[in-house]
Amino acid sequence: MDEKKTGIPRVALPAGARPDTLAVREGLPASQWGENSEALFLTSSFVHPDAATAAARFANEEEAFIYSRFTNPTVMMLERRLAALEGMPACIATSSGMSAIALMVLGLLKAGDHIVCSQSVFGSTIKLLGGEFAKFGVETSFVSQTDVREWRSALKGNTRLLFAETPSNPLTEVCDIRALADIAHDAGALLAVDNCFCTPVLQLPARFGADLVIHSGTKYLDGQGRVIAGALCASEAIVEGQLVPLMRSCGMSLSPFNAWVVLKGLETLSIRMRAQSERAAQLAAWLEGQPQVERVYHPGLASHPQHALAMAQQSGCGGAVLSFVVKGGSPEAARAAAFHVVDSTRICSITANLGDTKTTVTHPASTSHGRLSEAQRQSAGITQGMIRLAVGLEDVEDLKADLALGLEGLAA
Ligand SMILES: Cc1ncc(COP(=O)(O)O)c(C=O)c1O
Repeated sequence: MDEKKTGIPRVALPAGARPDTLAVREGLPASQWGENSEALFLTSSFVHPDAATAAARFANEEEAFIYSRFTNPTVMMLERRLAALEGMPACIATSSGMSAIALMVLGLLKAGDHIVCSQSVFGSTIKLLGGEFAKFGVETSFVSQTDVREWRSALKGNTRLLFAETPSNPLTEVCDIRALADIAHDAGALLAVDNCFCTPVLQLPARFGADLVIHSGTKYLDGQGRVIAGALCASEAIVEGQLVPLMRSCGMSLSPFNAWVVLKGLETLSIRMRAQSERAAQLAAWLEGQPQVERVYHPGLASHPQHALAMAQQSGCGGAVLSFVVKGGSPEAARAAAFHVVDSTRICSITANLGDTKTTVTHPASTSHGRLSEAQRQSAGITQGMIRLAVGLEDVEDLKADLALGLEGLAA
């Protein structure tokens, strides 16, 4: 299997080319027509010159693209580029971030296996691992995002996977990837990290020992809110040996069109991530100084409980997502105050998506975390006065003025 993929030629790049170069150049060589922008191979299948060649290709004796459920040049360009950026040997693109997680569990675990997962991961991940896979005999224990001892004490003899997402949404809690990798490996398990919030520009989980890196390409990798996409980076043995054959059977494949959009998104990922994170840091500092604001959550702030860890793990950068809590008294009053701020904005988009060049604003307690009980929300720290911002590329002074429209009407 490995030979099959490595046999497809690569772009000739100097050895040791750096991430910003890989982000715009890694992939496949141009076609015979010499296009400069990567070609979009919008085709479901590929033609073989004769029946014997078709037979050899289907038997994996000869490398070639066959059928876009599991092999497509545009998708492969994205996979190669993302793997290079994550510093990992291989990558498999999927139809969404959630299908990357589903593919991982289907491919690597079986009934009777156990997962330890942070309780602060994306809500659909909790539902998928804790609900859907439980139906098939894969049990998941949910533990504190930041308490390493809880992760260790949740281990069982049948634990095969640890799953973390850092920083978390919306509280931006940071977990220690190196410590979790050590715990996983001591137990003979793998560590998977959802790197959606930081992207490889800010955080390389493999460098800290993670075995699998998950992406929702829907977020910063596309970066302009256009497509749903996902990916999983890991070793050749995992990707080619275990996940590609499963993809061939299950078909959670990424469409070539969506792959092309994300591929082109990767070319500007580095400058977008840095510019958006810089704006988020400025906005977080400004919000901390506003009398109507009770608390701000952003890993770049010195007041953040895991500030030092975040700076070490995230290339000295807090990322582009922040949350803040407006003062409000009772939960009802706090919710009304938060709604007032959200509704007063004239620039920010009221939507739960993130990773867009357009700043998005959301009230987690009534949207992304609306299905939890008030008690569950309280214990998760998601209060009614909390607002999450995924900061985009607008001028930061305009964003401050936009938030001030609502804050100014609130009691300090
Ligand atoms: C951290 C994280 N992981 C995974 C996902 C799922 O990605 P997708 O919507 O592409 O399935 C999301 C979606 O919001 C997310 O925020």
